Amino acid sequence: MIKEIKKHLKKVNDFHTENLSELESFRIEYSGKKGILNDFFVSFRDIPNENKKEYGKELNILKELVSNKIQSIKNSISLTSEMGKNGDLFRPGFEFDTGSRHPLSIVKNRIISIFSQIGFKLSEGPEIEDDWHNFTALNLPEHHPARDMQDTFFIQTNPDKLLRTHTSSVQVRYMENNKPPIRILSPGRVFRNEAISSRSHCIFHQVEGLYINREVSFADLKQTLQFFTKALFGKSIIRLRPSYFPFTEPSAEVDIYWGLETETDRRITKGTGWLEIMGCGMVDPNVLINCNIDPEKYSGYAFGMGIERITMLLYQIGDIRMFFENDLRFLKQFKSSI
Ligand code: DAH
Repeated sequence: MIKEIKKHLKKVNDFHTENLSELESFRIEYSGKKGILNDFFVSFRDIPNENKKEYGKELNILKELVSNKIQSIKNSISLTSEMGKNGDLFRPGFEFDTGSRHPLSIVKNRIISIFSQIGFKLSEGPEIEDDWHNFTALNLPEHHPARDMQDTFFIQTNPDKLLRTHTSSVQVRYMENNKPPIRILSPGRVFRNEAISSRSHCIFHQVEGLYINREVSFADLKQTLQFFTKALFGKSIIRLRPSYFPFTEPSAEVDIYWGLETETDRRITKGTGWLEIMGCGMVDPNVLINCNIDPEKYSGYAFGMGIERITMLLYQIGDIRMFFENDLRFLKQFKSSI
């Protein structure tokens, strides 16, 4: 009897097929109701007691072997048929192209993260604006000559609608709907009807900042800007040049001291070492009144900067049109974790 089992052990061991129906016949032959294993178990009864242990052991080995054999052949058949469908499953994978962030997004995110450290919250507004939010509420009533500072795209079917010319419009929207203290940062896309050249484009991006509270002073503005320029450019020497914006009084343009160490420094600063990076000022009381904030109680500052210009400085990019051409050879050069 034991001899008989050993013979089957060898047979099962040697068995091989790549065919499912052959495997099924093998399974029925051994594990079916009237199969070989069953026969062995039936004859177990007639084995003399002293031999039962050895016989039982061998029989269990055979049973285990049969079931392992069936499983392993099944696995290998399903693997090969998968391969037929999908090719070689063991081939090396495709390289994953992760892409990279657009340089304007990298710089925008850096600006946001710097201002968020000192409590500025994000607030965004629509790109299609009305006259009130883009101009009138910002102390630029109809026919005000300063409207010509920003050549505007109007929406033909509705003379009250236009593509916003600056992100200052978001200030108005926020102040109309929120009470001071207000501390917001508003990044976004803006539009101006300007000829496209290496230095200007009809679409570009700005970041606007606004802080309104009791007793906000020009000194607070200057400190904030110094903190920002140090964090973004690593340079904190700034100067505030008197300027004019209808929505701020007094108004200033901010220059940073860039230096005159290299030929490029000389070229981009036109030989002066100074570079203009943004406009700013104390929010004009008329703007506060237009937004239902009492200028007797509150004051504040605002600033606005162009993201393209700052990105061009940081990465030494000579032509603003590069940002909009989607040339992968250009875009692939930028890497960032934010
Ligand atoms: N809106 C101005 C522009 O687009 C930039 C600006 C200047 C924004 C002064 C401000 C500001 O908030 O106070 O040219």
